Amino acid sequence: MTQRKIIIDTDPGQDDAVAILVALASPDEIDVLGITCVAGNVPLDLTTRNARIVCELAGKRDVKVFAGCDRPLGRDLVTAEHVHGKTGLDGPDLPEPTMPVADGQAVDFIIDCLREHAPGTVTLCPLGPLTNIATALQKAPDIAKRIAKIVLMGGGYFEGGNITPAAEFNIYVDPEAADIVFKCGAPIVVMPLDVTHKALVTKNRNDAFRDIGSPVGIAVAQMTEFFERFDKEKYGSDGAPLHDPCVIAYLIQPDLFKGRHINVEIETDSELTMGMTVADWWGVTDRPPNATFMKEINADGFFDLLTVRLARL
Ligand code: RIB
Ligand code: CA
Repeated sequence: MTQRKIIIDTDPGQDDAVAILVALASPDEIDVLGITCVAGNVPLDLTTRNARIVCELAGKRDVKVFAGCDRPLGRDLVTAEHVHGKTGLDGPDLPEPTMPVADGQAVDFIIDCLREHAPGTVTLCPLGPLTNIATALQKAPDIAKRIAKIVLMGGGYFEGGNITPAAEFNIYVDPEAADIVFKCGAPIVVMPLDVTHKALVTKNRNDAFRDIGSPVGIAVAQMTEFFERFDKEKYGSDGAPLHDPCVIAYLIQPDLFKGRHINVEIETDSELTMGMTVADWWGVTDRPPNATFMKEINADGFFDLLTVRLARL
């Protein structure tokens, strides 16, 4: 498999952390050009702290971690400490980061990176609200046609929402940004709740993380144990959905997933359905398809891949 150059745009978040670790553990398939942090699960200062903690946990202090937008394009920030804890990375007791935040704004790094690399060679992997990506597209519209692919975690259709009945958190926090991204014309692959809710960290799967026995394996088991308490109570499910690693797993093993190329529009007007991903799954409109919207996952294969890759660190 050829190595894919990527930028991970993220709001760690325990599930973001697992996604970053798997990406850093997969140099044959993935070259992480940089990590751009955005306000989401917790405020920007914490997402930028947490991303560096994760890079140091992986032993990858040379990864460039940038601070990005600290609030959505046009509304107040909504955070999710109720899910991820007050630090956003509750669970393991990990040391404060010593690696620096990279110089420059994340948005400028995204623009410069896309302009410096040949068109169609850089993939964007948003794992949080789409504020950084949308701001980059607004500031430099030329980058849209240079993006190889946007593979993002966000949205939901059959599964509805997780922050409101209609909306998934990443899209809900900045629906205007999501609208810009979904209309930018770049190829988009979406990992919505429809697929991530089938990627549940059951006890056996979490035991497999812990049985890796390394600091990474133990920390991941502690992270998922912490943030599953909310989802198990809310959904009565046998474990928490591991949302963001679906993005990275798709880059490594796309055949783990199945979906449809359909039209997806973002609700930005109605407060009742604000941030809803209106997915035309049944093709009942003549709106042009703009995203591959995933619905199925080989969950056992997914967790086997995560466990094998995490054991490399
Ligand atoms: O709705 C799940 C998404 O919101 C995940 O990316 C999680 O990290 C939070 O950002
Ligand atoms: Ca996230």
